[in-house]
Amino acid sequence: MPVCGLSRLISQTIVCARVTGVDLMLVWSEGRAVACERICPHEQADLSAGHLSGGRLFCPRHAASFDLRNGQMSYGWPGRPLRLYPVRVRGDQVWIDAAAIAMP
Ligand code: FES
Repeated sequence: MPVCGLSRLISQTIVCARVTGVDLMLVWSEGRAVACERICPHEQADLSAGHLSGGRLFCPRHAASFDLRNGQMSYGWPGRPLRLYPVRVRGDQVWIDAAAIAMP
C-alpha cells in the first residue's frame, strides 16, 4: 500500500505512519527509503524523535543506534534488532507490504 510521497520523505527524512495498526516510520537514509518500527526495542522511546547519521538511526533516549541495512543495535546494548519492513518506491510513492507488517 502507498504510505508516503517520495519527495516528502526526501525532504523530511523521517515520516511516521500507521499501517495495519502498527506504528512505523519511513526513513530516507543514504539515498534509499527504509521502513522500520517506530518504538525503540530497548525501552520504547519514540525513534521518530531520533536522528540519522552514517546510515544509522540514533535513539533520542539513550543514544543507542541501529544499522538501517539490517536493524542491528549498536554493540553493548541489550535488546533485539530494530524491525525493518519491505519497502518499494514506485514513481513518487513509497509503498509498504502490509502483509509483511501483519506477520509477527
Ligand atoms: S530507549 Fe532507545 S536506546 Fe534506550
